[in-house]
Amino acid sequence: MTTKPTKTLVGNIDKDILAYTAGRDVELDVSLIEADCMGSAAHVVMLSQMPLKPALISKSQENKIIKALVSIMRQTRKGTFKIRLADQDVHLAVEQTLTQQLGDIGKKIHTGRSRNDQVALDLRLYAKDQLLATLEGVACCVDALLSFAKKQVAMPMVGRTHMQPAMPSSVGLWASSFAEGLFDDMALLINAYEFNDQSPLGSAAGYGVPLPIDRELVSHLLGFSRPCHNVLYASNSRGKIESIILSAMSQVMLTLSRWAQDMILYTMPEFNYFVLPKAFCTGSSMMPQKNNPDALELMRAKASKVQGHALSVYDLIKGLPSGYQRDLQEAKEPFLEGIHITRTSLSVCHKIVRGLTVNKKALLKGFTAEVFATDRAIECVAEGMPFRDAYDYVKTHIDELKDMDPYEAIAKKQHLGATAGLDFPTYKKRLKEAHAFVREERKAFNKAISKVLGVAYPDL
Ligand code: ARG
Repeated sequence: MTTKPTKTLVGNIDKDILAYTAGRDVELDVSLIEADCMGSAAHVVMLSQMPLKPALISKSQENKIIKALVSIMRQTRKGTFKIRLADQDVHLAVEQTLTQQLGDIGKKIHTGRSRNDQVALDLRLYAKDQLLATLEGVACCVDALLSFAKKQVAMPMVGRTHMQPAMPSSVGLWASSFAEGLFDDMALLINAYEFNDQSPLGSAAGYGVPLPIDRELVSHLLGFSRPCHNVLYASNSRGKIESIILSAMSQVMLTLSRWAQDMILYTMPEFNYFVLPKAFCTGSSMMPQKNNPDALELMRAKASKVQGHALSVYDLIKGLPSGYQRDLQEAKEPFLEGIHITRTSLSVCHKIVRGLTVNKKALLKGFTAEVFATDRAIECVAEGMPFRDAYDYVKTHIDELKDMDPYEAIAKKQHLGATAGLDFPTYKKRLKEAHAFVREERKAFNKAISKVLGVAYPDL
């Protein structure tokens, strides 16, 4: 049944079709309002400098538009700026507001751009902030893991393969292994950050515009390192960027998930190596004694979710033809959610690591004589026996093995990266570099945005 169509900035649209096509943009685009306003501010500065006679937008009109954009940003922070269904998305909501407030001046803002390059820009600006925040989150976890590892560097812990007791190891080695995994994940995030650091604005609908727009200027004004060059690729890179970022996020989650699995195992009463504060556990509605590690289980589950989101974006774009297709809108939800999950998981991991204590008695109890079998064989090697003979000798005399001191055993492994050869100063240096990267990038971004908005950003 056809009902009276809803009037929108881009035509009169049937209510059901409007609701279906706007989808969740009305809610999700709230996260993009600030980015959309920044983008419009830079665009209008560029329009006013465009070499046209008469000028398309005067300096005073430019100032009025930027003021109105800053006001929208402030309203957004107070929760009073609304995107209505008739707006469809953030872009038309902002344009509509500017037009209501400024009349014909507002109507000029969309000159030389399309919602296609606008949304691509918004997502990249949003991603920039989120990638920096994620890097900060990873760095905090690394910091907590390294402090814990350093404190427990001489605390013996049975090393396992196939889940079976294998060789003497330490809590320090275990904890810092996750820190090192997160360093690799940081490299992936920085890589994604660098891909993302290109302005798509001015690609318009994907084919440029017959106007002397200055894409370099807009890119510079928004603190990007450069514009995406080819306008069609700028358009086609939507979805690809989200896919790259989610892949990096899913690697972070992979590290966290494996840490969470170890934590679940080593905090269970049968192991009891580590103790979780009670407040970090949840109880059972029926069994009064329970302290369940639900947060860790959910971290494991959420890793699958982020990986699923990465795959869903990849799958969404892999068969798309060149040029904008509305399918791309569907990448927004997994993108925003994947980032959100990763960031919250990082802060939960950080909290748990900082609250973690070790149970020395339980850790030492695991050291049966068999755990030292390989060390014993290597002692025989040092006495001149070929390794295979030493191996056979220990294997046939396994019941006669004598206990060794686990503290001594882990202190003996002094080579690179082993229990007594962990290079904490280098870890610390890498962590400092990561913090400095985030700090410098934020500083440069805030400076650029403050300049274009004419007010101090991010305070506004
Ligand atoms: N909300 C839309 C999206 O996320 C904005 C772009 C709409 N462009 C269009 N040609 N219909 O993709």
